[in-house]
Amino acid sequence: MLGMRDFEPDDESITQDYEPGDSPKDFDPGMPNQLLDYVLRNTSSVVNTDLFAVMSKRRSTRKFSDKPVETEKIDKIIAAADTAPTAGNYQGFEIFYVKGLEKKKLLVEACNNQPYVNAPVVLIFCKNPSRVKLDFSEYILRKFAIQDATLAAGYSQLAAQALGLSSIWIGMFDEQKVMKIIETDLVPSSILCIGYPKQTKFPKPRRNLKDLVHVTW
Ligand SMILES: Cc1cc2nc3c(=O)[nH]c(=O)nc-3n(C[C@H](O)[C@H](O)[C@H](O)COP(=O)(O)O)c2cc1C
Repeated sequence: MLGMRDFEPDDESITQDYEPGDSPKDFDPGMPNQLLDYVLRNTSSVVNTDLFAVMSKRRSTRKFSDKPVETEKIDKIIAAADTAPTAGNYQGFEIFYVKGLEKKKLLVEACNNQPYVNAPVVLIFCKNPSRVKLDFSEYILRKFAIQDATLAAGYSQLAAQALGLSSIWIGMFDEQKVMKIIETDLVPSSILCIGYPKQTKFPKPRRNLKDLVHVTW
């Protein structure tokens, strides 16, 4: 049987369901987290499982090599987003996985002409406050959705680093243009561009921890 990955749509505007490269043989969509756990459990592509080493080595990259990112790694990066906490566990966000080259080029322009947005893997994290079924004001639900989407993107960014990849977080974009390109009414919160770095760089300096933390009693 053909999987979704077995055909490449001619029309790049086609939106298709996401299907991981590998699924459990007894896959049951009704079984909570079965697919998620399956994707996360496969550790063959993980380069570093020490969370603190992953954090201390991460450095944004704006120059990606042409080396394609393995499907298994992309699946893990997406699965990592799905493990992030969300307000009330309502998962008030969506991920758009941009595969079409034409769309990536359009995104460069929508992101203030940042050329590295045309990266091997482009994930757009959008807010979806309508999923957040909590009895709070619209304002609070929107606030929850932006936190859900942002945290999920952060999880994906760390997962990419753990897999030996690098990334750049894009916050500078024209929301309306991006929404038009990916054909959604949902407002994007961030775009994560991922790939193998052309060169590995040292992490950037931060302010002293003592200056960052303000202890109050
Ligand atoms: C909210 C936010 C928005 C950002 N927007 C952009 C952007 O539009 N373009 C870009 O090149 N980098 C962007 N960055 C990446 C930052 O410039 C980068 O994370 C920062 O310089 C620290 O470097 P590091 O990630 O290597 O620690 C953004 C980062 C964040 C968290």
